[in-house]
Amino acid sequence: MPKRKRSGGDVSVGRDKTVKLKRGKGRKVSSRRWLERQLNDPYVAEAKRRGYRSRAAFKLIELDEKFRFLAKSNRVVDLGAAPGGWTQVVLDAVGPKGTVVAIDLTPIEPIGDAVILTGDVRDADTEDQLYHALGGRADLVLSDMAASATGHAPTDHLRIVGLIETALDFAEAVLTPGGTFVAKVLQGGTERDLLARLKREFAKVSHAKPDASRKESAEMYVIAAGYRGDANSTEN
Ligand SMILES: C[S@@+](CC[C@H](N)C(=O)[O-])C[C@H]1O[C@@H](n2cnc3c(N)ncnc32)[C@H](O)[C@@H]1O
Repeated sequence: MPKRKRSGGDVSVGRDKTVKLKRGKGRKVSSRRWLERQLNDPYVAEAKRRGYRSRAAFKLIELDEKFRFLAKSNRVVDLGAAPGGWTQVVLDAVGPKGTVVAIDLTPIEPIGDAVILTGDVRDADTEDQLYHALGGRADLVLSDMAASATGHAPTDHLRIVGLIETALDFAEAVLTPGGTFVAKVLQGGTERDLLARLKREFAKVSHAKPDASRKESAEMYVIAAGYRGDANSTEN
């Protein structure tokens, strides 16, 4: 796979040439707004220029620039990976000796040497499948999983908390001691119980909102480093 230039904090595409779409043309207001946002988003343009499948790639690049978890990782799991921007960044970082396993509900086009699975992370047999594909314990578990919004805030909140818990269950089962867990959480940080659990299980827990994360989005990321290990986790 061709190496991409890996820098993300320096995305400097100006917003001076704002594109405004004309009304009509059979577009709904919501899809016109979405299209305008895409056309005027410097991260979308930069992702296209650098060959990343999603603007989300820059979120991971920024998080890694700050917390430096990719360089020390060889076996990596990417939960909620479609269309594959994070997987591309991870592959570039781990190189040919690394193992990268990516999973999503939505099928993902092949990406280099990554093992791609299609499925629901919440399904009982997914953990075994992922672990098998990994060939041993992971150094890094990433989760950018997001549930599609229902518009009902309490439901959406419960859904995302459920996904984070699932990702953390998985991380605790497969991470090697000293490993790192990075997951999308909600603005304001992690739920109290979840945060307590993370602090128990990991030596250092931090939160960050990368510049590439849209200001209006309620997302941010938790970075939990130094997994303390679990005697009951899947054997290597
Ligand atoms: C924001 S996107 C991920 C973008 C990706 N990190 C990238 O760089 O291209 C969130 C993804 O989470 C996936 N997802 C949500 N719930 C899931 C689940 N239960 N199991 C697997 N994937 C899930 C969605 O299908 C969606 O593709």
